[in-house]
Amino acid sequence: MLDSLTVSSTSENPPNNVCNLFPSIISMIILETRKVGRIAGNSHGKIKIVDSISYSFDAGSIYNIVGPSGAGKTSFLRLLNRLDEATEGEIFFRGKLISSYQPTELRKKIAMIFQIPFLFPGSVRENLEYCCKGHRKQKDGHDYSALLERVGLKREFINKNSNDLSVGEKQRVALARSLLLEPEILLLDEPTSALDPSMAQIIEQLILSLSQELGLTAIIVTHNPELAKRMEGQTLLMVAGKLIEHGATDKVLNTPQTELGLKYINKELV
Ligand SMILES: Nc1ncnc2c1ncn2[C@@H]1O[C@H](COP(=O)(O)OP(=O)(O)O)[C@@H](O)[C@H]1O
Ligand SMILES: [Mg+2]
Repeated sequence: MLDSLTVSSTSENPPNNVCNLFPSIISMIILETRKVGRIAGNSHGKIKIVDSISYSFDAGSIYNIVGPSGAGKTSFLRLLNRLDEATEGEIFFRGKLISSYQPTELRKKIAMIFQIPFLFPGSVRENLEYCCKGHRKQKDGHDYSALLERVGLKREFINKNSNDLSVGEKQRVALARSLLLEPEILLLDEPTSALDPSMAQIIEQLILSLSQELGLTAIIVTHNPELAKRMEGQTLLMVAGKLIEHGATDKVLNTPQTELGLKYINKELV
């Protein structure tokens, strides 16, 4: 998967000397936001829920987005695959503006996993097949055993009704379904916060191993700094729509460099 990552020279992202000299370094950037913002309206007027965020995500790495409730973490994540549109700034996927991709095509490459897994009524098989309709032709009766096994479910689950699954099992099916799209980036919004601690840990491990084995970039929104520490990778701290700090997870969450960062780890921001 990583082999196919290249920076395309578009008018939005022209090649420069650095690109030419070090293409392998530059080609590691898979997703980039430049001064991205979103203004949303409510009964009290308009507010900037995401405020001028510029950041580059490398292919195959793990990113945590942490911050207090209402910081804009979910709002920022939803801009990355056009579930919501940025009202300011630009977002590039593989060097091309995300607005130049068809939204459905983009969401295959940049798939979203939600806190409460959404499955259609019907069997697990129907859920997996539905995902592929119009995306990738699966033969009738396709054997999904290996895929189910990969997310820790026995093959018998294929005929179970989605309503009969626990939240943890549903989250595994949701992960399996998104893997069928062969995404390059997984966006995960609080993927374990609806689960009991032991299931949460199993799903965490699954996300880590999928990222490593498939070279997936995982961007995980969490209100839980302990989860971010277990995921390691890089951490972005958001407060009031802004990106306050970013860097290696242990640095950001153990030795923050800003007053707001310090307040966050001391649990003074709620
Ligand atoms: N569509 C919307 N219209 C108005 N305000 C919104 C909308 N979506 C989110 N918000 C507000 O934006 C802020 C950030 O929300 P959110 O991204 O859900 O935060 P987080 O995920 O960090 O808890 C909150 O104050 C929320 O009420
Ligand atoms: Mg949220």
